[in-house]
Amino acid sequence: MTTPGTDRALVDVQGLTKSFGGQPVLRGVDFRTAAGTATVILGPSGSGKTTVLRSLNALELPDAGRVRIGEASVDFGALPSGRADQRRVLRTLRARSGMVFQSHHLFPHRTVLGNIIEGPVQVQGRPLEEAVTDARALLAQVGLAGREDAYPAELSGGQQQRVGIARALALRPDVLLLDEPTSALDPELVGEVLGVIRDLAEQGWTLVIVTHEVRFARDVADQVLFLDGGVVAERGGAEVLTDPQVERTQQFLRRVLEAR
Ligand SMILES: Nc1ncnc2c1ncn2[C@@H]1O[C@H](COP(=O)(O)OP(=O)(O)OP(=O)(O)O)[C@@H](O)[C@H]1O
Ligand SMILES: [Mg+2]
Repeated sequence: MTTPGTDRALVDVQGLTKSFGGQPVLRGVDFRTAAGTATVILGPSGSGKTTVLRSLNALELPDAGRVRIGEASVDFGALPSGRADQRRVLRTLRARSGMVFQSHHLFPHRTVLGNIIEGPVQVQGRPLEEAVTDARALLAQVGLAGREDAYPAELSGGQQQRVGIARALALRPDVLLLDEPTSALDPELVGEVLGVIRDLAEQGWTLVIVTHEVRFARDVADQVLFLDGGVVAERGGAEVLTDPQVERTQQFLRRVLEAR
């Protein structure tokens, strides 16, 4: 809940740093995201995009920096020393966001419905009936009404990815984090998944999306962050994608657009 009359961002990321084996990967990443907006992160391979998303979801532990989502705030440089306390703090942050990965990670032996209700029922302890009702509504939202009894192997890659989105939304997160949600798909399936994400943006979901789909990004992005070498090298609105000011961004966009 935001306090009326303040413009407190829903997501506030400050000074994230992270090294892997002595190699700095994040070197002070800062950004804020307002509720109901879409933030697009792009940048070269290895620039730290996935590490940023995983840090927001506390799947990765930065060496320092803060992440606040809504009322849940974690200072990664000052985590509680006890394991149980640390887990509790990280859990409160993790509960605020839902993650959609490049490939969907659905449970192959569970139906579509089983996949979607697993988190709400097993992790959040919500009543089965409520979780099922919610899941049906979410399936309709991602264009898969009536497919609740299918198994993942019976669905196309695009349909599986849409189930992955429904599964993340079923946890009722404040913000949905999407890491290259279409890059593992055959080209003809990309559009249907981008269409679903576009609908979510229009419905006012708060989204943080790593994508190289520049045309899609231009349509949905309220904020664009160009990550390079573990820092935000350029930021702004969608104009960053049409009229980048920083040379590295210009080069990168040229390369991405030429590759299409
Ligand atoms: N668990 C890990 N252990 C060691 N190194 C890692 C780990 N995770 C990421 N890295 C390294 O950190 C750097 C940034 O990785 P990250 O996955 O965040 O990049 P990215 O921008 O998402 O790249 P891509 O576009 O290829 O997905 C890379 O050099 C990567 O090899
Ligand atoms: Mg990545």
